[in-house]
Amino acid sequence: MILVTGGAGFIGANFVLDWLALESEPVVNLDALTYAGNLGNLAAAAGNTRHVFVRGDIGDRALVASLLAQHRPRAVVNLAAETHVDRSIVGPVPFIETNVVATCSLLETVKAWWTTLAMAGRSTFRFLHVSTDEVYGSLDATAPPFTETTAYEPNSPYSASKAASDHFVRAYHHTYGLPTLTTNCSNNYGPRQFPEKLIPLTIVNALGGKPLPVYGDGHNVRDWLYVADHCAAIRKVLAQGTPGATYNIGGNAEMKNVDVVRSICTVLSERRPGRDYLQQITFVRDRPGHDRRYAIDATRMRSELGWTPGESFASGIRRTVSWYLDNEDWLAAVMSGAYHDWVSLQYAAIA
Ligand code: NAD
Ligand code: DAU
Repeated sequence: MILVTGGAGFIGANFVLDWLALESEPVVNLDALTYAGNLGNLAAAAGNTRHVFVRGDIGDRALVASLLAQHRPRAVVNLAAETHVDRSIVGPVPFIETNVVATCSLLETVKAWWTTLAMAGRSTFRFLHVSTDEVYGSLDATAPPFTETTAYEPNSPYSASKAASDHFVRAYHHTYGLPTLTTNCSNNYGPRQFPEKLIPLTIVNALGGKPLPVYGDGHNVRDWLYVADHCAAIRKVLAQGTPGATYNIGGNAEMKNVDVVRSICTVLSERRPGRDYLQQITFVRDRPGHDRRYAIDATRMRSELGWTPGESFASGIRRTVSWYLDNEDWLAAVMSGAYHDWVSLQYAAIA
């Protein structure tokens, strides 16, 4: 079996559900259920005996050690993290606590267990760490995309904390021989993304008749990847990746933020006509230290592992908008009081 951390979050839940549908191995899913984690994301796995959910922290060494001893996973896929850049600007400490300290604790607990395995189990074991393209910093408009050898230049507390965790993963491979794999992926979108991130926030605000906040001039560029494609890439790296290697994963779909928001308005005006969603676009104060452009060169994923994204942005955004329109109960559940507290704090000027 495999142990997945953060499997009640956006990418983690999609990964677990896809895994249960496509693979035969069971999954132990360890998640602390922070504001971003939601058992409703895993509703489709209810009653599936191959899915074992455990509420807990990756930094809880006794808990993680007991899960490893009990379930003897052949791999750990680490998705647990604090993930929202704006929250890291408001308060970096939880990002240091989870993305650096707790991730190091997880590595240490896994390493201690892994060293007790027989040689065959030690060599086939994998620790796959899911990271981000944000560790590479910001690109100029004409700069070539990030490759696996691009120097790390993290600019936000979030990306600095992820960069630190990546370095520890690297060090655990180099120093102790732990068979690690690291993936650095671009912006994901799709079902079950918490509506603090640009795409789901735009969808819910548009439907609610609220402003669609675009930071700065709206010309910051992100490389968008549909979440199922990211999950497929993680499965590929887990199955075929070389221990110690890192893999850049991207959608080959660079877009300016304002164009992403406009495209959502276009889909909504077809699916839910009657309102001029474009009129709701509101340019607001820029994010401090806002990275201008991210772009991923995914040549290694394509040439070494045969992975390419299956979804275009045009098709993926339609599927995503449809999912949110069809899952109003999910939205109502996650947009609780705490969600409104965040929105009022972050968007005070336009609330
Ligand atoms: P998310 O915020 O939706 O979910 C994170 C999950 O981790 C939540 O379920 C939360 O409860 C859990 N968690 C947080 N702290 C924990 C802890 N200490 N112990 C156990 N569980 C904990 O995040 P996401 O967008 O699904 O991202 C998953 C991973 O992928 C992260 O490592 C993130 O850095 C990385 N990533 C995300 C994107 C993206 O666009 N969303 C892109 C590239 C990489
Ligand atoms: O690149 C991968 C990263 O993508 C992941 O590592 C992060 O976990 C994930 O949150 C995401 O980070 P971003 O900061 O790029 O995503 P976000 O959806 O917050 O913002 C996307 C872009 O849209 C960014 O340039 C900021 C802008 N934005 C965002 C929000 C929330 C707005 O213009 N308005 C908004 O209200």
